[in-house]
Amino acid sequence: MGTISHDGGSKQLVAGRTIFDYADDLAVRVATSCGRAGTCHECVVEVTAGGEALGAPTDEERFLKEPFRLACQAVVEDDSSDITFAPLRRQPRILTSRSGGGHTDPLSDASDPPVVERDGGVWRGEERIDEFRGRMLGLAVDVGTTTVALELVDLASGQALQTRAFGSPQQFAGSDVMNRISYDGGEFRGELHDAIITSINSAVTDLVRDWGISRRQIYEVVIAGNSTMRDLVFGLDVQGLGQKPYQSIIEKELAAGARTTSAIDERASVLGMRLNPHARVYGMPLIGSHVGGDTAADILATDLTSQTAMLVDIGTNTEVVVRSGGRMLAASCPAGPAFEGGLVGFGMPAYTGAIESLRWDGGAFVFETIDDQPPQGICGSGLIDLLAELRSHDMMDTKGVFGHDRRASHIDVVPEHGITLSRLDASNLAQAKAANYCGQTIVCRELGIDPADVERLYLSGGFANYVNVDNAIAIGLLPPLPPERVTKVGNTSLQGAQEALLSLQKRAAIEATAATIEHIELEMAPDFFEVFVDGCRLEPMGAAANAGRRPSS
Ligand code: FES
Repeated sequence: MGTISHDGGSKQLVAGRTIFDYADDLAVRVATSCGRAGTCHECVVEVTAGGEALGAPTDEERFLKEPFRLACQAVVEDDSSDITFAPLRRQPRILTSRSGGGHTDPLSDASDPPVVERDGGVWRGEERIDEFRGRMLGLAVDVGTTTVALELVDLASGQALQTRAFGSPQQFAGSDVMNRISYDGGEFRGELHDAIITSINSAVTDLVRDWGISRRQIYEVVIAGNSTMRDLVFGLDVQGLGQKPYQSIIEKELAAGARTTSAIDERASVLGMRLNPHARVYGMPLIGSHVGGDTAADILATDLTSQTAMLVDIGTNTEVVVRSGGRMLAASCPAGPAFEGGLVGFGMPAYTGAIESLRWDGGAFVFETIDDQPPQGICGSGLIDLLAELRSHDMMDTKGVFGHDRRASHIDVVPEHGITLSRLDASNLAQAKAANYCGQTIVCRELGIDPADVERLYLSGGFANYVNVDNAIAIGLLPPLPPERVTKVGNTSLQGAQEALLSLQKRAAIEATAATIEHIELEMAPDFFEVFVDGCRLEPMGAAANAGRRPSS
């Protein structure tokens, strides 16, 4: 008799029952709003093993790719197999803390929220939109490709009440923005918009319950997300971002003079958000192409005004912004999912049980896992440690070739758990690293500086927060800077969204700044391929030039 399990719980299988039935048995919360009819598409689960024991996907599941199923539709056929599954909303470790970049601008403490209380009413500008219901609340939302963080904020006091975070509900359409764009261009257009709106509504339901508040007390939402994520929230056609010149429909309208800002503003009810009927949703301005409102929020939350500074937000799509000599340049680097668990055999997102740091002690790798659970795989920060340790102990060369006999197909990392790193894994990681390298190298070169000249490097986002900076420098993911020049600033995208939530002045300021930032397409650099090949070498930036090999810039 087979079993079905999730997160340590398990039940015996009986043919004819759905995964949703077993989720009930296991007390696993799966979202639904259609009574399990197959129409709401909220009950997506990832079947991580034993998918062949389930009946074929139904018509209602046509929008999903393997290994995702609708829990209400996936029926057990073969009850002799073992099945494991996870709801799509399983909780990754998501960074919600922010340290900011140490503001110096006078707007830092500005608070002029878009709605205020006056004479017993709630006013938006000169319009009285509601009676005062005892509280005015807003939501700052960082919509990432992989994770979403949402913060409930008191608009009057500016106080952040609670932060919630969850994995992107759009992952059934693929892990990166290009997958999402292509999915939204197919027969299921709108599913991705519905998925993120449903998740936000569901998070609001939880907040309402936990805080004893009313949805009608929520008047304002700010969305920070890359161009694709932001525009999907607003239900816009994102196909322009999938083909040259890779521009959002909003960026095209701005260029054509049809609008004055790339920020957007819409009624929450039009987008399907269940809040106060007069609530509005503000989308942070775009910088250009795939460098979107999340980077604008990063810039708003980080002091990039006074020196040669670089902001790097490492992710599936890494954003690089450099200020020097009065100019600001930005680029996005499609690094792919290797550091987020994709394309690496034992790679995994930063979930419980992921190896997050490790070092070679001379005979074995000594490691730490998230929540001190048995190791299941290696997340991004652990992978960077692994590459750096393999390099520093001469167990791998700069091209990712293992050992002395050069024929080893893999390295045992945790043999007792079967965790290995293959040549292909190392190659995929090297290419992800190279995309980051290209961004930093080419943007700095356009400004006439070397990455090592940067006076202040801000590392934004969850990935960077957990990374060992020395190891990232050792493999050339970051420029060789002394520690005092490097600052981990946390989730500045969420912080910037919160600042914009509380201040119309700040919205105007970041819209003006965004309009002055020059965006460059890395692939347009005539020597892009050569720079990329240099970047694939697992060695510190500038090592090639220092060793007298072909310089990379
Ligand atoms: Fe609605 Fe499965 S519960 S689609």
